[in-house]
Amino acid sequence: MRSSEPFRMAEILEVVEESSLVKTFRFRDDVPAEPGQFYMVWVPGVDEMPMSISYMGEMKGITVHRIGKGTEALHAMKEGDVIGIRGPYGRPYSLEGKKVLMVAGGTAVASLAPLAEKAVENGLEVFFALGARDKGKLVFVERLKGTVDLHIATDDGSMGYHGFVTNLAKELMEKERFDMVYACGPEIMLYYFFRTTQEMGVKVQFSLERYMKCGIGLCGSCAVGPYLVCRDGPIFTEKEILKMPEFGNYMRDASGRKVGLK
Ligand SMILES: Cc1cc2nc3c(=O)[nH]c(=O)nc-3n(C[C@H](O)[C@H](O)[C@H](O)COP(=O)(O)OP(=O)(O)OC[C@H]3O[C@@H](n4cnc5c(N)ncnc54)[C@H](O)[C@@H]3O)c2cc1C
Ligand code: FES
Repeated sequence: MRSSEPFRMAEILEVVEESSLVKTFRFRDDVPAEPGQFYMVWVPGVDEMPMSISYMGEMKGITVHRIGKGTEALHAMKEGDVIGIRGPYGRPYSLEGKKVLMVAGGTAVASLAPLAEKAVENGLEVFFALGARDKGKLVFVERLKGTVDLHIATDDGSMGYHGFVTNLAKELMEKERFDMVYACGPEIMLYYFFRTTQEMGVKVQFSLERYMKCGIGLCGSCAVGPYLVCRDGPIFTEKEILKMPEFGNYMRDASGRKVGLK
């Protein structure tokens, strides 16, 4: 299903290889966006996919993990090629308090890096826990290094803290008092991390993913609890997450079938 909202065609102006599986694509789009929002990105003749906006301003960016046929086709594109974009869609993160923690697992840093930059511009103290399976899969280390108080975790210990980024985040939360914890990553990671934040009584904003078709609240494919992720999210607070029986348990695939997450 494709929404009736038209795509704007955007010429790819720059491609940056972030790691063996992740590339950033930069293009001009003067429609304002906020961190946490996403585009529906159309690769002509292949597919359309939701992608977080990883760079704000006029020179926007998306940071894409190659996982299946749509993202593979995107990875094959070069400067001068053209993609279609709709959006920005979704409810963005909201900055709250004076001292915040951001926790990103893998390519999910795409959603949080522009938030970190905005938070610093607004005078907040930002701790950032960035995790990946190994050193080669870390994205945006250089971008974040000079901006925030950066803490790195790798599952195999090849850089920084040896272990899950959520364990590192928990250690930071035991030492510091944060006004808000922002997180984005695989849902199973968010599920266990949510328990930690609940036990510690910390306020959160998590970015969730669901299978999206229209991106604008029409098809219902991204329903979770009483919400539509494309329209009411993708950013949700702890009060909203507590109303989602599906969170960490299952999502629906392209044909609406339940797919277990544990
Ligand atoms: C709000 C949001 C923001 C996202 N931001 C990013 C990002 O910044 N970078 C990034 O690499 N990925 C992001 N994703 C995930 C990305 O949309 C999927 O990885 C991509 O659609 C996979 O397409 P594919 O054809 O390559 O893979 P496929 O082989 O078709 O699918 C691989 C997996 O990707 C998921 N997926 C496939 N199509 C969709 C779809 N239309 N909507 C949601 N999930 C889908 C499914 O869970 C599937 O199991 C985001 C998803 C959402 C919902
Ligand atoms: S993707 Fe259609 S309602 Fe959310």
